[in-house]
Amino acid sequence: MSTYSQPQSIAVPRRQWPDHHLRQAPAWCAVDLRDGNQALPNPMTPAQKRRYFALLTEIGFKEIEIGFPSASADDFQFTRDLIEQNLIPDDVTISVLTQARKHLITRTFESLKGVKRAILHVYTATSDLHMKYVFGKTAAETRQMALDAVRLIKSEAAKLTGSQIRLEFSPEEFTDTDMDYALDICDAVVEAWDPPAGERVILNLPATVERRPPNEYADLIETFIGRQRQRARSTISLHAHNDMGCAVAATMMALMAGADRVEGTLLGHGERSGNVDLLTLALNLQYMGIETGLRFTHIEALRDELIGLTSMPVSPRHPYAGELVFTAFSGSHQDAIHKGLTRRQESASQFGGWKIPYLHIDPADLGRSYERFIRINSQSGKGGIAHVLEADYGVKLPRSLLLDFSVRVQEFADAAAREVTSAEVWKLFRETYFRPEGRLRLVNYWPRPNAADPKRIEGEAHVECGGKPYVLHATGDGPISAFVHAVLQLPLGGFSLEEYEEGAIGRSAEAEAMTFVRLVDAKGTPAYGIGFGTNIDQAAVQAIVSALNGLPGAA
Ligand code: KIV
Ligand code: ZN
Repeated sequence: MSTYSQPQSIAVPRRQWPDHHLRQAPAWCAVDLRDGNQALPNPMTPAQKRRYFALLTEIGFKEIEIGFPSASADDFQFTRDLIEQNLIPDDVTISVLTQARKHLITRTFESLKGVKRAILHVYTATSDLHMKYVFGKTAAETRQMALDAVRLIKSEAAKLTGSQIRLEFSPEEFTDTDMDYALDICDAVVEAWDPPAGERVILNLPATVERRPPNEYADLIETFIGRQRQRARSTISLHAHNDMGCAVAATMMALMAGADRVEGTLLGHGERSGNVDLLTLALNLQYMGIETGLRFTHIEALRDELIGLTSMPVSPRHPYAGELVFTAFSGSHQDAIHKGLTRRQESASQFGGWKIPYLHIDPADLGRSYERFIRINSQSGKGGIAHVLEADYGVKLPRSLLLDFSVRVQEFADAAAREVTSAEVWKLFRETYFRPEGRLRLVNYWPRPNAADPKRIEGEAHVECGGKPYVLHATGDGPISAFVHAVLQLPLGGFSLEEYEEGAIGRSAEAEAMTFVRLVDAKGTPAYGIGFGTNIDQAAVQAIVSALNGLPGAA
């Protein structure tokens, strides 16, 4: 196994950032169309980039890095298209990337002709590794190259009359760069640009490759800010890649350390394991009560559109956006979510806001609906089944029936060895408990008040039992007990009605009645039955027939 060179952690004698609380959002810059696009196996077409740009503006990004115009003809044309077709909203500033080389800078300015506002983002690698092994330059030569580039950009910007050009400088591989050197080159860049009052140079301090744990990125940022000569004339920007999978944490900590701005991409597209995911980061801040200026109100539609544009799949477990991240399969989680949602008003007033077991945010804030949170497979339990039946069909099952039915669902899911849809759960429910045909068949039932005592009900039931027709008469306190007394005359071996409940399917005025009964036969064996209809008595009678047809030997 290889041994790996570890970047030196720096000494921070009076580290402050762990005690800071995030209270406001950074300025955001989306680099999807540059860092994200350059890392796609199939880079986007011009039409796809235009749509992506529009999406970013709809979300609320005010700074968008749109490409590397001097390095790619496509990016050059895209920049021209945005400017010439007037596609840049007035409150949005585009940014274009260039290396610190003369011909590339000149070409970049050609792409910007006619722009109202732009950020010229120039970068040069400042780590020993890059300077020596990639470019064969000394630290002094690299510094000189950066300053020459800044002066050239300044003079080119002055020629672009009518355009407001700001400068961004990135010491690439900042997190692997000697701190004294990074400070020196960045201060010198700000001084060479010499921003007018009210303007700041963006110093973008990238974790080009994530080689350190997140706390060390924060240490570097706090130290850099504390030691800068030109703090007041600079905006400190973060740009974290995700090689160790910690880019979101690293960025949050580095914001605590005092950074002002964040670059990243939606869903974390970008080189290797990607850039920091701005969607996750922004929604984390939103969860913490921070107004981010970014809106993710239809996150599933956004995710699907991004998948279409980039041809990059999104993990079903991706925070906030993944298909399964607001879904519970396991019985105990489903039960807790179901209970928490049922009493969410009460818990919100106790805890001062949304607090639901296993759901850290309200999925409705992202345009996701409750109905699909709970999905059924062989791990699921009664809470999940109750939720699906209630949410999708408006049916609330009595506890004993729910217990019986959850065993049936588990058997069904085990046999299917896959997820079970809510339509399948409903079908199974009806097939299991609604049995109008069997040993007993109801032809007709007429309940009417007794002429002498209208509180008593006379029932006349026309049934078939074991294929033979019967006309039965009986009296009861109500239509249901009259029917029970009638069918007790049949050669069914005796039974008693143990539980009876009325409900409804659906929540509208036209909701159908659903009744549920539990009978036990002479040996004490239970059977459950359901009946439907617009008339509650007829639904109840059907439920009794269904239950009788469910008793052993009655099929
Ligand atoms: O990751 C990086 O360092 C970059 C720079 C060009 C900012 O993308
Ligand atoms: Zn990058």
